[in-house]
Amino acid sequence: MQTVIITGGTDGLGKGLALHYLRQGAHVVALGSTAGKGEALLTEARALAAGRATFVRADLTSLAACRGVVERLAADHPVVDKLILCAQRYRLLGGRATTGEGFEHSFALAYLSRFVLSHGLHDVLRAARRPVVMNVGTPGVPLGRIHWDDLQLTRAYSGTKATLQSFRANDLLGVAFGVLHAASGVSYVGYNPGVVSTGMPASLPQPLRAGTRALFTLFAASVPKATVPMTALLDDPPAEPFTAHWGRRRLPLDGRAFDRDDALRLHELTQELISR
Ligand SMILES: NC(=O)c1ccc[n+]([C@@H]2O[C@H](COP(=O)([O-])OP(=O)(O)OC[C@H]3O[C@@H](n4cnc5c(N)ncnc54)[C@H](OP(=O)(O)O)[C@@H]3O)[C@@H](O)[C@H]2O)c1
Repeated sequence: MQTVIITGGTDGLGKGLALHYLRQGAHVVALGSTAGKGEALLTEARALAAGRATFVRADLTSLAACRGVVERLAADHPVVDKLILCAQRYRLLGGRATTGEGFEHSFALAYLSRFVLSHGLHDVLRAARRPVVMNVGTPGVPLGRIHWDDLQLTRAYSGTKATLQSFRANDLLGVAFGVLHAASGVSYVGYNPGVVSTGMPASLPQPLRAGTRALFTLFAASVPKATVPMTALLDDPPAEPFTAHWGRRRLPLDGRAFDRDDALRLHELTQELISR
């Protein structure tokens, strides 16, 4: 029975993938911050009568919680076949928010949690036959940059700027992971699903919520449709340590978004930040 760990596995794309791998007979460990969504997933899993589902409630904005989750998951699962990173909550409007540990919210949830889980679970991943990490985000979108002199965006903050920075940081996380773990056999896949109708608008303030829902009605793919190319990649990952994809299209890695030096610089800065 393969083990599939999914952050944000209780809603949207993460939940779609959780149900898919349950149907395939996998042990799916879904992480999310809301107990009700976890219970709902477990109820659906029971109705499927296939695979095995575990819900881990964790607030992944907290570095301590991420580290606790890594410790628990690594102890419970000596072999992890797939790690899928979907946890996300957009804060496009409103002022700058920080976590209890002092990190800017988008940096903490969308980037740091993925950094800690990716590197922290590397050893249990490399124990699998064909291990893969899929970091679901927006590779290939030419928006946003790393604010090297102010990663926590203490000056001239905007929610959009913070969200876009976290996207670009995840592109570099994949590149650095591929460089640092090049010989370990773990495939790291940066993946952009395109526009998909998920639970995402529910956490947006009005009128953004209504606008995003209208956009989803017109242009978005359904979760079952969007997860087809994702599972194809997850089940047959590229041999290279890092690749980036937008739907079925493989992205070139020659742009600034995937710069090796930037990736290693961000890796070092992040290590420094989280070891303080
Ligand atoms: N949907 C799209 O059109 C689209 C497009 C491009 C990229 N993506 C990317 O795809 C990924 C999944 O997006 P989605 O649209 O499927 O999202 P979604 O439906 O909003 O689901 C987000 C998931 O993240 C979890 N989550 C949020 N905050 C959390 C926290 N603090 N701690 C732990 N878990 C937390 C949520 O559970 P709780 O609410 O219980 O915490 C939920 O399971 C994201 O990385 C997103 O950037 C999506």
